[in-house]
Amino acid sequence: MKKLVALTGAGISAESGISTFRDAGGLWEKYPVQQVASHDGWLADPVLVNNFYNERRRQLFDVEPNRAHLLLAQLERHFDVAVVTQNVDNLHERAGSTNVVHLHGELMKVTSSRNPDDPACIETLTRDNFEVQPGQLAKDGSLLRPYIVFFQEAVPMIDVAATLASLADIFVIIGTSLNVYPAAGLVHYVRSGVPIYLIDPKDVDAHMADVTFIRKTASEGMAELTRLLTGETV
Ligand code: OAD
Repeated sequence: MKKLVALTGAGISAESGISTFRDAGGLWEKYPVQQVASHDGWLADPVLVNNFYNERRRQLFDVEPNRAHLLLAQLERHFDVAVVTQNVDNLHERAGSTNVVHLHGELMKVTSSRNPDDPACIETLTRDNFEVQPGQLAKDGSLLRPYIVFFQEAVPMIDVAATLASLADIFVIIGTSLNVYPAAGLVHYVRSGVPIYLIDPKDVDAHMADVTFIRKTASEGMAELTRLLTGETV
């Protein structure tokens, strides 16, 4: 089976009702990114940051995967698919994708603020108990924090993602403005000659020649990509 690697961003979840970050009315217009999603912001006001992510988790229970997530999961019938997502939601998994790498963390997980990547400290929250309370502690006694890669922090999964990109036979980019590194640089690991498809309703600069641009929303674009790659009409 050919290996298909998809790099996804907030745009794939937009049709599920989750705001993107940088579009008009996006999340970073309502909340200063430095305050709620940076390492300095966390140090300055952990309660505010935990509350912000409590709110994002609450929203996650009201949304469902959309057709784009579902069609991407269904490509597993034809390809060895790996999803590298910048999203912290769990909509790829809920749509049935079985190989998902989260570059920027996961909303439903919390961890130690002393050792965020220590597997022993990472806890998965449940629907009945998803709010981090002020002063709540992780297993190692440090303040419990979201399992989110904040700005100014290293991206631990980037090497795994770069290896996947370098092994891809087909590379697909869906719904990301490619503003944030190192994720935006993954396309440079794709071997030359490998077809690259980019699905986004707006112009996005992939900094690469030879990209097939499908200028559509994620759900329409995934339907078109499925037709192109499998010949199936969906
Ligand atoms: P952005 O908000 O920067 O970009 C969203 C992209 O989705 C844009 O290119 C939009 O044109 C596109 N888009 C909007 N609606 C769409 C739709 N219906 N279908 C397809 N595409 C659509 O979001 P990201 O690129 O994901 O990190 O942002 C990257 C990172 O920056 C995020 O992971 C987050 C953020 O700060 C952290 O919080 C650590």
